[in-house]
Amino acid sequence: MTTTNRPTAIDAPRGLAGVVVAETTVSDVRGAEGFYQYRDRSAIELAETATFEDAWQLLVTGQDATDASRPAFAARVADATTAARADVDAVVEAVSSVAPDVLAGLAAAWPLMGARRSIRPLYDLDEDERLTDAIGLAAATPALVGALWRRSRGERPLPVLEDRGVVANYLHQVTGRVPDEATESALTAYLIAVMDHGFNASTFTARVIASTGADAAACLVGALGALTGPLHGGAPSRALDGLDAVATADRIEPWIRGELAAGRRLMGFGHAVYRTADPRSELMKRVALRTGGPRVELALRFQDGAERLLAEAKPGRELHANVEFWAALVMERCGIPRSMFTPTFAVARTIGWTAHILEQARDPKIIRPSARYVGPAVRAVAA
Ligand code: ACO
Repeated sequence: MTTTNRPTAIDAPRGLAGVVVAETTVSDVRGAEGFYQYRDRSAIELAETATFEDAWQLLVTGQDATDASRPAFAARVADATTAARADVDAVVEAVSSVAPDVLAGLAAAWPLMGARRSIRPLYDLDEDERLTDAIGLAAATPALVGALWRRSRGERPLPVLEDRGVVANYLHQVTGRVPDEATESALTAYLIAVMDHGFNASTFTARVIASTGADAAACLVGALGALTGPLHGGAPSRALDGLDAVATADRIEPWIRGELAAGRRLMGFGHAVYRTADPRSELMKRVALRTGGPRVELALRFQDGAERLLAEAKPGRELHANVEFWAALVMERCGIPRSMFTPTFAVARTIGWTAHILEQARDPKIIRPSARYVGPAVRAVAA
């Protein structure tokens, strides 16, 4: 008789909710407390105070950005950004000619960028080579998304603002305007706040692909696919659709009741982990109140109505506004068009994905769960 060290099969809850599938030092989400952290820092504090580049350094290298550590990371990013420029132009030109769609274009662009620089499987790379690929792909992403957007409108990418950082350059490409400080700071808070968030669906997807030893571009494509779903990163534009449909405060309650009665979900509400207010939503609400705009008052009333009616419809479930609801208002106020909400989310989350890809690549165990077969039994083949 042979013995194995394989664990016996266990049944996981639906959606793997609450199942711990790995150990990580990238980020932690404490759903009952409404708190999350990047490495050893409060993510909300970082979103309120850090630059995009410093938060990127912390998440991807695990190293705090200080006067001593910042130059080396900045130099790597600058090299990667310069190296990416020619590839970005060529790849954007090619994919935009097939279909002028930003998300489809990004999903096609990453592997093509990788192929142009002969990207190799994570399995074949050492730690530093993997970091180079991770930084290279993440550095190219805001430029790719910005250029794909401009191309989708028949416009050429604008020149780089050499004296400004990632966020200002991204806003410049998307809005066509050099952003003022308030706009840059509002979008920076959003982008840092959504850079990472534990084992969400897209991050888990990236890690599953990384566990096969595939290259980093392949991991990002899978992650992006998961992010585009309306239950994940596809929600923010739909949250604004809800405000459009309501239009005036007196229509909030009947409209929400109608949606719930029809069995539809309220986009921008509920969360798989938070059982109290989503701290990212609270942050985005503060930013939205600061930046103002014609819809803020309606959004406040909508949130009140939605949380009250969700509590009535799903007693004991604790369904609150999630990050997408208030982020949609902030992005709109920053001049980002609705179709660019999910691509903008992807620009930020690429940082978290690459941090997780690097961590997963250090573990040689492939992620390969099981399913219980509940289909018909094998049929006898007719003689
Ligand atoms: N509107 C109406 N009902 C809801 C909503 C909602 N927004 N969210 C959850 N519910 C219902 C569920 O259908 C479920 O009902 P049931 O028990 O009768 O089947 C109940 O509330 C409990 O759901 P949860 O277990 O708390 O939620 P789950 O983990 O399944 O889903 C999710 C989480 C996908 C975020 C869900 O809340 C949802 O679909 N929200 C709307 C889409 C959205 O805003 N997505 C963005 C999430 S944030 C992010 O990914 C960055």
